[in-house]
Amino acid sequence: MGWRAEQTPHIAAGLLLLLLAKLPVTCHQDHQDAVHITAILGESVVFNCQVDFPEDIPVPYVLQWEKKVGETGQDIPIYIWYESYPTHSGEGYEGRVSRVAPDSPYGAASLNLTNIRESDQGWYECKVVFLNRSPNQHKNGTWFHLDVHAPPRFSITPEEIIYVNLGDAIILNCQAEGTPTPEILWYKDANPVEPSGTVGIFNDGTELRISNIRHEDIGDYTCIARNGEGQVSHTARVIIAGGAVITMPPTNQTKLEGEKVQFSCEAKALPGNVTVKWFREGAPVAEVAALETRVTIRRDGALVINPVAADDSGQYLCEVSNGIGDPQSASAYLNVEYPAKVTFTPTVQYLPFRLAGVVQCYIKANPPLQYVTWTKDKRLLEPYQTKDIVIMNNGSLLFTRVNQNHQGRYTCTPYNAQGTQGSSGPMEVLVRKPPVFTVEPEPLYQRKVGESVEMHCEAQEAEGTQRPSVVWRRRDGLPLQKSRVRALGGNVTIDTLRRQDFGIYQCVASNEVATIVADTQLVIEGTQPHAPYNVSGTATEFQVTLRWQPGYAGGPDYKQDYTIWYREAGFSEWTKVPVTPSGATSVTINRLQPGTTYEFQVNSKNTIGEGMMSKAITIRTLDVGAKPKAAPTAPGPVDEKVFQNAPEGSGPKSGPPRNLTVTEVHNGFLITWQAPLERAQLVQYYTIKYRTDAQWKTLNRGQIRPEETSYLVKNLVGGRTYYFRVLANSATSYESSDEVKFPVPARVKHKAITAGVVGGILFFIVAIILSVCAVKICNKRKRRKQEKAYNMVAARLTDLRAADSTQVPFKK
Ligand SMILES: *[C@@H]1O[C@H](CO)[C@@H](O)[C@H](O)[C@H]1NC(C)=O
Ligand SMILES: *[C@@H]1O[C@H](CO)[C@@H](O)[C@H](O)[C@H]1NC(C)=O
Ligand SMILES: *[C@@H]1O[C@H](CO)[C@@H](O)[C@H](O)[C@H]1NC(C)=O
Ligand SMILES: *[C@@H]1O[C@H](CO)[C@@H](O)[C@H](O)[C@H]1NC(C)=O
Ligand SMILES: *[C@@H]1O[C@H](CO)[C@@H](O)[C@H](O)[C@H]1NC(C)=O
Ligand SMILES: *[C@@H]1O[C@H](CO)[C@@H](O)[C@H](O)[C@H]1NC(C)=O
Ligand SMILES: *[C@@H]1O[C@H](CO)[C@@H](O)[C@H](O)[C@H]1NC(C)=O
Ligand SMILES: *[C@@H]1O[C@H](CO)[C@@H](O)[C@H](O)[C@H]1NC(C)=O
Repeated sequence: MGWRAEQTPHIAAGLLLLLLAKLPVTCHQDHQDAVHITAILGESVVFNCQVDFPEDIPVPYVLQWEKKVGETGQDIPIYIWYESYPTHSGEGYEGRVSRVAPDSPYGAASLNLTNIRESDQGWYECKVVFLNRSPNQHKNGTWFHLDVHAPPRFSITPEEIIYVNLGDAIILNCQAEGTPTPEILWYKDANPVEPSGTVGIFNDGTELRISNIRHEDIGDYTCIARNGEGQVSHTARVIIAGGAVITMPPTNQTKLEGEKVQFSCEAKALPGNVTVKWFREGAPVAEVAALETRVTIRRDGALVINPVAADDSGQYLCEVSNGIGDPQSASAYLNVEYPAKVTFTPTVQYLPFRLAGVVQCYIKANPPLQYVTWTKDKRLLEPYQTKDIVIMNNGSLLFTRVNQNHQGRYTCTPYNAQGTQGSSGPMEVLVRKPPVFTVEPEPLYQRKVGESVEMHCEAQEAEGTQRPSVVWRRRDGLPLQKSRVRALGGNVTIDTLRRQDFGIYQCVASNEVATIVADTQLVIEGTQPHAPYNVSGTATEFQVTLRWQPGYAGGPDYKQDYTIWYREAGFSEWTKVPVTPSGATSVTINRLQPGTTYEFQVNSKNTIGEGMMSKAITIRTLDVGAKPKAAPTAPGPVDEKVFQNAPEGSGPKSGPPRNLTVTEVHNGFLITWQAPLERAQLVQYYTIKYRTDAQWKTLNRGQIRPEETSYLVKNLVGGRTYYFRVLANSATSYESSDEVKFPVPARVKHKAITAGVVGGILFFIVAIILSVCAVKICNKRKRRKQEKAYNMVAARLTDLRAADSTQVPFKK
């Protein structure tokens, strides 16, 4: 024994050094008597080791635990204990190794290894070295083999949601660690994945590959990693990616200026990372400077404009996308309404003496302008009472022939459904003489290709007005080729003429008072023919014979060939008929339908190409049984000209009344029409014309006011065929509707024509009843019913017409 307290430090230190430096290596290749222990990763294990004192007499000893490491099987100490000296823990074992408590059931040399790592796996030796013994007497240690087991844990897993398109190929990768090495199992929904032509499991089960995704491949894929210590699972959901779909598109909205507007644009998508973009009239809203401070796009995609301005009206389009497929878009219109306003007041405006002139009122209005009131010299102007003055669609004043009295101080006030934002400022209107041409171009210049042409023009202002500017242009609006065109004052020269240079040229002289125009024609020999003109025709039931004058042939000795284009008026398909023999300037078109209106145009071509179309004319074929007219020169029925061509320059007029219909009703015949589409405000009254032979007569007594669009005729002569037209009369002109033919059934008894005006709304009620009945094909029983219904309406008609002098009692 003889260990004494004062000696021990030296001995222990020397021993430790010795131990640490190198103990004689004992080779333990196989330790049959070794203890095999299995531990679980992260948990603790106790290596049970006894201290067997020699002769059972306790003596001082050093306890040393070693671990065999590396390929060479070198033993390194992981725990050394000696008496009251601090224990030594090997690298990587700090804090994890300790001796068991003395009162534990384990041997005194037992080692408690905690927080087990996978690297702890291997051989351990427990050595008890008794001091003051000769080394050769020391006992071999006890050997342990530690197996570290770990439950599986995933190192690589697929995304939880995988967006695919049908036909895609995907690889799901699932890798797990653990001891023993976990196996990987794949399940689709609740069932094991069955490998097939397109589905396979590779790389020790860690990869599931689907080469061509079909509908049945969509679902939840679960990979399970398991070993003896446990299992873990991970599920990946494979779903078909969906591009964004708009679920709440924006809707059209009407707002008053200053209000706030919000357009929704909600979308669904898979994946749901939708971005919403907004465009106004095609431009991103963020780039619309006028909107900049007033526009926001909310998180839910909605566009908010607050407050809206008059100019914000227009199309707003939202575009949604999640990066899959094409972006979807939806649009809506914003309609910003505001009272009509004058945008600009010119302080001085000029009217050209003895010409037509316009005093402008610059207006903005939404809803559209309803009317404009004008004052002249502080008195309300009544244009309807003044022969030469018309208020145009856009509110400006048109003077059809200016005289000195028109000079004055004017204001205009525009109105729409929202009212007005006030009058213009006063505008001084001065009547001045227009400029005049002092040199006018010749009516026609004829040149050959390659030559040049000089066209002359000069204009002079009247006293007290500005010098007019003189420019040249083509009447058809095509640009002049700068490189070949030289202008010198009012003279223009075009060099190296080409065929395309043919056409009408205009010398335009303008100053503040008026713009005057002089036309000239430039003919290039060797061009396409010019349009045929003076086209006329005569009709029988089934044929129309057309005649025309040839236009310029395109050059000397050029031959023209003609083609007739025709169609039933109002239908879009043209039929083309070449005219034979070549060069003929009249042709008969056969196989037409009787009683039908056709449009005709004549086109000409020469060796260079097709020329321009003639003006279109309309001709109506005769009704079956009608006699051909004695002198069939004018197209269509007698007097047609009168209605189609109100004298040129006779003043502005509306478009034609539309949809003229004649319907037999219980107590007469109802003539109805629709107001013209164009310039309806010019209509001052309507006139109904009718004829049964060549002679047109006026049907109505008194004027039909512009707001009325129907008229009741009491009695027409049974068995006769009537033709009707409605004329829309403006102050100085008129426009005719199409002609409507109405054969009066023979059962209708003859009575003198009597008539009455029917309000448009009341007619509407009648029309509904009639059309319902028409659908059902009235039989007699239904007819009685209908009469009853109509009488109810008629009773109201009577009330309405009680005030009218042309009232006619109803037949009971
Ligand atoms: C081993 O050490 C751990 C941690 O200190 C302790 O919880 C456990 O009780 C010890 N085991 C024994 C047998 O002493
Ligand atoms: C120690 O181990 C060696 C080799 O395994 C063996 O030959 C020897 O007999 C053992 N000694 C004792 C005392 O067990
Ligand atoms: C929205 O307004 C536009 C243009 O005014 C129109 O073409 C479209 O039909 C409107 N849509 C709806 C749903 O009213
Ligand atoms: C949305 O996510 C998908 C998939 O993560 C990605 O491909 C796409 O680019 C994203 N789209 C947007 C608009 O961020
Ligand atoms: C009004 O219309 C006439 C005829 O179309 C036109 O000449 C005039 O410039 C227009 N005025 C304004 C202010 O738009
Ligand atoms: C235009 O041509 C006419 C006639 O040749 C000539 O008298 C006039 O001086 C020319 N004008 C200019 C500005 O060259
Ligand atoms: C063409 O018709 C107009 C009237 O419509 C007539 O004045 C002119 O003489 C005709 N021209 C020819 C060449 O027949
Ligand atoms: C005529 O009336 C019918 C039915 O009321 C309508 O469908 C058609 O568009 C109208 N035609 C015109 C030119 O207004």
